Amino acid sequence: MRAPATSANLGSGFDVFGAALERPADIVRVERAEETTIEMSGAGSEFIPEDPAKNTAGAVAEALDAPARIKIDKGVRPASGLGSSAASAAGAALALNELYDRGLSRSELVPIAAEGEALVSGEAHQDNVAPALLGGFTIVAEDGVTQVDSSVPLVVCLPDIVVSTRDARRVVPESTSVENMVDTVGRAATLTVGMHREDPAMVGRGMEDNVVTPARAKLIDGYDAVREAALDAGATGVTVSGAGPGVIAACYESDRSEIAGAMLDAFDDVDVDSRAYQTRIGDGPTVY
Ligand code: HSE
Repeated sequence: MRAPATSANLGSGFDVFGAALERPADIVRVERAEETTIEMSGAGSEFIPEDPAKNTAGAVAEALDAPARIKIDKGVRPASGLGSSAASAAGAALALNELYDRGLSRSELVPIAAEGEALVSGEAHQDNVAPALLGGFTIVAEDGVTQVDSSVPLVVCLPDIVVSTRDARRVVPESTSVENMVDTVGRAATLTVGMHREDPAMVGRGMEDNVVTPARAKLIDGYDAVREAALDAGATGVTVSGAGPGVIAACYESDRSEIAGAMLDAFDDVDVDSRAYQTRIGDGPTVY
C-alpha cells in the first residue's frame, strides 16, 4: 500500500481543506497476526513509537479489530505539516480493511483513520486522512466529506526544523474580525472553484489567508523570505502546509523547478537546511 503525503488547510480552509500529494508517500505492508506489532523504517522513523498503543497504525488496527504485523516505511517525516501520521493511519486502514475483508468504503474508513490522528495530535482531525484515503482535494464539513479530483502542480519545501501540531494550534487566534471572515470566505470559494477547474492562478489566490497563517508563519524561520522567493519565481500562491513547517506553493508546471530552487535558496540564506518536492495534487493511495 502506498499512502500519500497530504497538505491540510491550504491557507483559507483551516481545518476544512486538504489535498493529496502525488509525492512523497509512506509504504505500508500488513500480514495477519495473533496480535499487532509495528516495525518502522524510513524518514524520521526513529521518532515514532513502535508500541501499537502509541502508534497511529496501531490505533487503526485496534479500531478495525484487525491484529496484524504492520511494517511502515516512512516517506513522510513526522512533524512536517505533510500529514505524516495521516499517511500511516490511512495506509493501515485501507490495507487492514482489505486484509480482513471488512468491506468498508474509503469514505467509511476516514473516521477510523482519524482515530490514529487523535492519538498523535490530541484531536481526530479528518483534513489529512480524508485526502490520504480519497485522493484529490477534499472539503471536511460537519455533514461529511466532499472530494474533487484535481491535479494542480505544487512545490512543497520542507525545512529541517520541527513544529508540532499541538504547538501550531496554540498560536491560532481565537477570534477574528468580520472583515477577515469575509476575505476568508471569498478566498476559500475561489480556491474550491480553482481546484475544480484545475486553475493554478485561482488556487494560488485562494491560498492567501490573514488569520491562521500569519500566526503560524512566526514559528518557521525564514518563512517570509521563502514565500517572497517563491512568488518572485512564479508561484501563484504560497502558504504554510498543515501545521507547518512545510511551505506549499501552487504554480504552473513550467515554473515548478525554478520555484523549488528559489525556496531552497531562501531557506539556505537563513541557514536552514531544507528539501523540496516538485509534486502535484495526486490520486490518493495505491493498493498493490
Ligand atoms: N488542520 C490541522 C492544523 C492539520 O492545521 O492544525 C492537522 O490535521
